[in-house]
Amino acid sequence: MKFDFFTERMPPLIGVDISSTSVKMVELSEGSKGSHRLDSYAIAPMGKEAVVDGNITDLDQVVDAIQRAWKLLGTREKRLALALPAAAVISKKVLMQSGLREEDMELQVEAEANQYIPFSLDEVNIDFQVIGPAPNNPEAEVEVLIAASRKEKIEDRVAAAEGGGLKVTVMDVETYATEAAYELVANQLPNRGKEQTVMIVDIGAIMMHINVLHDNQSVYIREQSFGGAQLTQEIQRRFGLSLEEAEIAKRRGGLPDSYELEVLQPFMQSLAMEVARALQFFTSSTQYNSVNHIVLAGGCASIPGVDLLVQERTQVNTVIANPFNEMSLSPKIKQQQLVADAPALMIACGLALRRFG
Ligand SMILES: Nc1ncnc2c1ncn2[C@@H]1O[C@H](COP(=O)(O)OP(=O)(O)OP(=O)(O)O)[C@@H](O)[C@H]1O
Ligand SMILES: [Mg+2]
Repeated sequence: MKFDFFTERMPPLIGVDISSTSVKMVELSEGSKGSHRLDSYAIAPMGKEAVVDGNITDLDQVVDAIQRAWKLLGTREKRLALALPAAAVISKKVLMQSGLREEDMELQVEAEANQYIPFSLDEVNIDFQVIGPAPNNPEAEVEVLIAASRKEKIEDRVAAAEGGGLKVTVMDVETYATEAAYELVANQLPNRGKEQTVMIVDIGAIMMHINVLHDNQSVYIREQSFGGAQLTQEIQRRFGLSLEEAEIAKRRGGLPDSYELEVLQPFMQSLAMEVARALQFFTSSTQYNSVNHIVLAGGCASIPGVDLLVQERTQVNTVIANPFNEMSLSPKIKQQQLVADAPALMIACGLALRRFG
C-alpha cells in the first residue's frame, strides 16, 4: 500500500470508517450522467473497547466487525479506502518555488518535515500535494500541503483490514473525507455554499468533530468531547438495559414514557448547547464573526428534531447531512433506513468517493 492522502483517481474500492462504535462501509459506482450510485452500505457495531481515541485497541474485535460489515455489503470488491483521525496526522501548508522537479520537491518536503515533526522521520509516512499557485506570489511560488503520520497508526489499520481478508489501497484523513462528502451535501444549501461560511458538526458517539468551511475551503478544525454514548449510558442506567439493548431502544423506541421528557430532552438541550459553544469558540478565535449554515452529521444528527433545536439555540440555518440525496440507489436499499443512517456515513461516503477523480 502507498500512504497517499492525495492520489487522484482510483480503481473501484469500498470506503471504510473505523469509528469508536462501529465499522461503516459504503460502496459507490458511477451512475448516469456523471452522477453517483449507492450500491450498498453496512454498519457493523463493535464494543466500546475496540477503538479508543481513534486507536485500534482490540484488533480481533475490529477484524470481526470488518468481516461482518463486508458480508453485509454483499460485494466482491476487496480494495478499501481507510482514514486516519485528524489527531493522528500532522499537516502543514508550505510555499515552494514553482516548477520544481518531483525529486527536488521530495527533498524539500523532507527538509520541511524535519523541522516540524517531533519524531524521527524513519517512524513516519509523509505525503504531499501541490494545492496551486501561492495567493501572494502566484508567478513564482506554489502552495504545498504536507501530511505526515506515525507508521504504526497506519499499520494498525492495515492489519485490521488484512485480518479481515481485505486490502487497503488508499489511506486518507477523516477530515478530508468529511470535506469530500460535504461536496455532496452542499446542494442542500443555497448557492451550494459558495462564498459562505458553513460549520459541519459531526456528533458521533464520543466526539463532536467541527470543521468550518469558507467558500468550500476548510478554515478551522476542532474537537469537543461530547456524543451519543452519554445518552446511551443514561438509558442503560435509568432502565437497567445492556449496551446493545439501549442502542436498539434509542433507534427503534419502546422505552417508558418518562424517556422523552426526562432523558432525551435534556440530552438534546445539552447537544444544542455544545453546538452553540463550538460556534462561539469559532467566532471568537478567528476572523469570522458568524456562520451562514450549520450542517449536522454523525449518528446524533438522526435524533428527530435536533436540527430545529440547534437552529433555535444558535439562530443559524441548520440542515441534516445526507450525502446520498442526489444519488440513485440500488433497489436493495431501504430509503427510510438510509435517511436515518446517512448522517453517520459521511466519512465512509467521502472515502468511497476516492475511486472517482
Ligand atoms: N437514529 C438514531 N437516533 C438516535 N441516536 C442515534 C441514531 N443512530 C445513531 N445514533 C447514535 O449515534 C452514535 C453513533 O454515531 P456515529 O456512528 O456517527 O458515531 P461514531 O462515528 O462511531 O463515533 P465517533 O465519531 O465519536 O468515533 C451512537 O451514540 C448512536 O446511539
Ligand atoms: Mg464518527
